[in-house]
Amino acid sequence: MIVCVCKAVSDRHIRRSVAAGEVVSLRDLTRELGLGTCCGKCVPAAREVLGEALAAQ
Ligand code: FES
Repeated sequence: MIVCVCKAVSDRHIRRSVAAGEVVSLRDLTRELGLGTCCGKCVPAAREVLGEALAAQ
């Protein structure tokens, strides 16, 4: 599922980045994947996916 349409970031991208230890925060997601840097509408959904991915660690 695409989470960030502007930057074409999927929930799979987010989960993979968390699993790789590259991402532990929303700020990391923005830096690593560019998520949320355009319209910002994806931020609530990204936060939810990030929380799930971190909880699954
Ligand atoms: Fe993520 Fe627009 S949908 S910045």
